[in-house]
Amino acid sequence: MHKITMLGTGLIGLFYTMTLNKRRGGDRVHVVYSPTEKHVQSFAQDWGIPKWTTNMAEAINDPETDVVVVGLPNFVHKEAVIMAAEAGKAVLCTKPLGRNAAEAKAMLDAVEKAGVFHGYLEDLVYTPKMLKSLQFVKNGALGRILWVRSRETHGGPHGAWFWDPQLAGGGAIVDMGCHCIEIARNFIGKDNRPVEVMCWADTLVHPIESEDHGIGLIRFESGAVGQFEVSWAFRGGMDLRDEVAGTEGTIWVDHFLRTGFEVFTAAGRKGYVSEKAEGETGWLFPVGDEVHELGYPHMFDDMLNALDSNQEPMETFYDGYVVNAIMDACYRSAQSKRWEPVELEVWRGKPQPVEKKAPVEYEGQYIVIKEEHMPDGKTKLLLKDKATNRIIEKVVSK
Ligand SMILES: NC(=O)c1ccc[n+]([C@@H]2O[C@H](COP(=O)([O-])OP(=O)(O)OC[C@H]3O[C@@H](n4cnc5c(N)ncnc54)[C@H](O)[C@@H]3O)[C@@H](O)[C@H]2O)c1
Repeated sequence: MHKITMLGTGLIGLFYTMTLNKRRGGDRVHVVYSPTEKHVQSFAQDWGIPKWTTNMAEAINDPETDVVVVGLPNFVHKEAVIMAAEAGKAVLCTKPLGRNAAEAKAMLDAVEKAGVFHGYLEDLVYTPKMLKSLQFVKNGALGRILWVRSRETHGGPHGAWFWDPQLAGGGAIVDMGCHCIEIARNFIGKDNRPVEVMCWADTLVHPIESEDHGIGLIRFESGAVGQFEVSWAFRGGMDLRDEVAGTEGTIWVDHFLRTGFEVFTAAGRKGYVSEKAEGETGWLFPVGDEVHELGYPHMFDDMLNALDSNQEPMETFYDGYVVNAIMDACYRSAQSKRWEPVELEVWRGKPQPVEKKAPVEYEGQYIVIKEEHMPDGKTKLLLKDKATNRIIEKVVSK
């Protein structure tokens, strides 16, 4: 059972507190901090939190709590994490870990120097659909992973600081690309080194300095590619989708928008539908148990179970650092319009041999490229001549 210091009472402080305090388990938010007295006081009242403060150091150093959860704007993560590490507390920090890799590395160094438990709160790798998909991938159901496509788009964030690149570290890429990149890393393998990136970013809609759109390709050492797509100008709600392609299989996941739960109303929505939902009438796409669908309960279970058993959680500050390093390369590539290397001061992955299947031979002379069943019922083989490399077709059955 843990008594938790919650830093932040905004959207993520609310999701985290709903997750922790609404459950029957004994872990509870014990102290909450926000710089605005009115907000923090009413937040504490709403969620039955015994103590509140507008002083961050006081919240972190509270003698009764042993875990600090950082749910503050990106520009405060480093200060909060270093303070919590110095207080000797377990630290769990929301995404992105830093505004850039240098900040993330300073946070990683601080927790490792202090020897405290650290977890990177990347909820979207803990959604029920993601955990099940990862199991298929780990069991080999998809063969060798070749390509992961992950998409997060909505109409733009809810807080002022997100829109200022100095405070946030960037725009839609740093805000949402971080989710997609970590989803891709989990499927492609965290030991698979991200080598280089190609990225497009632009400001197509909003009157801001940051990018409101971005698409990136991350090439990993095995040759696999992670692809992210982010937008802060997508209409129609929040679209969270992943696709995984392997040599033996495919996974398509829709987490949020079109999940089989659709409501039509002419009278108006009459209440909360889901995060970033748009429109009052017509077809709505509600989410049954939002904190669950977004991965928060499984995430906190993993974090606190790992803390109790003295193990690493699925997501650590090192993961957050790698994600930041990939995003730094994306911003360089968006400027240079070239592939840019991912610069990792520290790489902890283990080299993984790429296991390619032995080629299938045909009549000694050929290698089978593909078998195709044609509409007229015939089966065709596409064959490569081993001696000449010439590719031929052969009809093998009627
Ligand atoms: N899915 C996710 O994991 C997810 C979702 C949303 C936000 N986040 C992350 O959570 C963090 C907070 O985002 P949010 O959506 O809750 O933002 P928000 O704007 O809704 O809330 C921010 C909170 O921080 C406090 N705050 C504002 N300025 C501060 C300052 N200078 N010093 C200390 N506290 C300050 C505010 O009072 C408020 O309590 C960000 O890092 C964001 O990227 C993660």
